[in-house]
Amino acid sequence: MKRVVSGMRPTGKLHLGNYLGALKNWVSIQEKYDCYFFIADYHSLTTKYEHTEKIKSNLEEVVMDWLSAGLDPEKSVLYIQSGLPEIPTLHLLFSMIVPMPWLERNPTVKEMVRDLNLKENVGYGLLGYPVLQAADILIVKGELVPVGKDQLPHLELTREIARRFNYLYGDLFPEPQPLLTETPMIKGIDGRKMSKSLGNQINLSDKKEEIESKIIKMVTDPEKIRKGDPGHPDICSVFSYYKILFPETTHTIRKECESGKRGCVQCKRELADRIYKKLEPLRDRRVKFENNKKLLWDIINSGTEKARKVAKETIEKAKKLIGINYI
Ligand code: TRP
Repeated sequence: MKRVVSGMRPTGKLHLGNYLGALKNWVSIQEKYDCYFFIADYHSLTTKYEHTEKIKSNLEEVVMDWLSAGLDPEKSVLYIQSGLPEIPTLHLLFSMIVPMPWLERNPTVKEMVRDLNLKENVGYGLLGYPVLQAADILIVKGELVPVGKDQLPHLELTREIARRFNYLYGDLFPEPQPLLTETPMIKGIDGRKMSKSLGNQINLSDKKEEIESKIIKMVTDPEKIRKGDPGHPDICSVFSYYKILFPETTHTIRKECESGKRGCVQCKRELADRIYKKLEPLRDRRVKFENNKKLLWDIINSGTEKARKVAKETIEKAKKLIGINYI
């Protein structure tokens, strides 16, 4: 089985966008590949080094969402980046062989600098974070990396680093390929990209009232004022949710909306209800961990231990090839 590696930052409760864009796919590939999934807690320090108070609870929320969505510690290795001291060691070894221009031309980092308005404040850690990501992947010799398109430049760099290391010191690392899956882009309740920082998300663990109050705020066709007005489902964000989440319903809903048989309030109530029901198995699996953090940490710690065994071997081999093992 090929080895898969991917990581997520500890951002707190995951939302439908995270689920459809990544987590759902992770769950579905567990049988097919030898999967390593980790929380990239060091990565969260590259931009949020001033606000660290929530890292632990955010990390717990993410892992609870992983488990509730069906990531299975019997099938996949689930661990924490900072639990593997071999990652920063490999990062350091890589930093010696990476030319600066490889980092400065990275479009995803450039975008982050622009979006966060950093300019002169770009830290050493932020510029180097794709090198850290290469270390994340190569420490367990990942061959496939399920990521979104924004991460492709980082993966390209990972391959360049692997190639350069192998060329300089001898064959050790694979050249990891992206595992891209076409995922539907679900919008936030305000029509922008669903994102926690925009506060427009529907979380996997939201309560019934939360889902209802969020869905009810969504904007529908502005020309459909009363139930009887003919609606235009293709410009309606509520309908776009039906399309992504409940495609089997769209035929009927389209007809009812266009003919004036269906009003927006009813349509939203039904959507909220369906989303709530769809997420029920996830919520059911989550309670066990919410009430028992020890159980959660036992899973995290045993996954971290497993990953560490692999990481230790890789570091020993890397040091040996470089010539800095003195035993
Ligand atoms: N950079 C990724 C993100 O921001 C997270 C990440 C860190 C990652 N290390 C990784 C993803 C290694 C895949 C493989 O989403």
